[in-house]
Amino acid sequence: DRSVKIAPSILSADFADFGREIQAIEAQGADWIHVDVMDGHFVPNLTFGPPAVKAFRKHVKTVMDVHLMISPVDAYIDAYADAGADVLTAHVEAGPHSHRTLQAIRGAGMKAGIALNPGTPAEAVEHLLDLTDLVCVMTVNPGFGGQKFIDMTAKVRKLREIIGDRPVHIEIDGGVDPTTAPLVVEAGADVLVAGSAVFRGGSVENPAPYGENIRAI
Ligand code: DX5
Ligand code: ZN
Repeated sequence: DRSVKIAPSILSADFADFGREIQAIEAQGADWIHVDVMDGHFVPNLTFGPPAVKAFRKHVKTVMDVHLMISPVDAYIDAYADAGADVLTAHVEAGPHSHRTLQAIRGAGMKAGIALNPGTPAEAVEHLLDLTDLVCVMTVNPGFGGQKFIDMTAKVRKLREIIGDRPVHIEIDGGVDPTTAPLVVEAGADVLVAGSAVFRGGSVENPAPYGENIRAI
């Protein structure tokens, strides 16, 4: 279903070759590029920060979708705007002031996303929806690629209901593959993040499997 956007996560790319990996995955049909920022505090893993994300921007021709798995968030919003994020997503669990965070993200000129861990109910973002362009439903506990999909279809359905006619994307992140994708799309998701299922079998030297994997989702 090509009304659904595929956002490969470069967490599964070659960390020594991000520029060419981004070019390869876009040439193979990626709709957005998903960038997983981890701080070793909000999640038990570390990736990269604003200078690296700014360097990725030079290679991203589509949409740079930056997923912050960090706490606190607000002090870094301007740095990610400067780095060229198109969508900046913070976790609702990252602090007590998600409302302020979303206002600040939009105020800095970006689309504002709010992410929910698997243990967080849809209702946690109900009063944030007018400030939100994207709700990211985590279908793994965040921190690592390649984990097993946790079924959150009931939450996705509930979110679609409370979003109503607002123009809000529902993005799914974690364990998305050709088997799990149809479940969440049927429930109302329209952006699918996929790391391991997209990058498996390919490389910058042999990128065709990236395209086959994207089309299989
Ligand atoms: C998990 C990250 C995801 C992850 C998805 O903490 O937010 O974006 O890279 O990877 P897969 O598709 O391998 O589950
Ligand atoms: Zn992510």
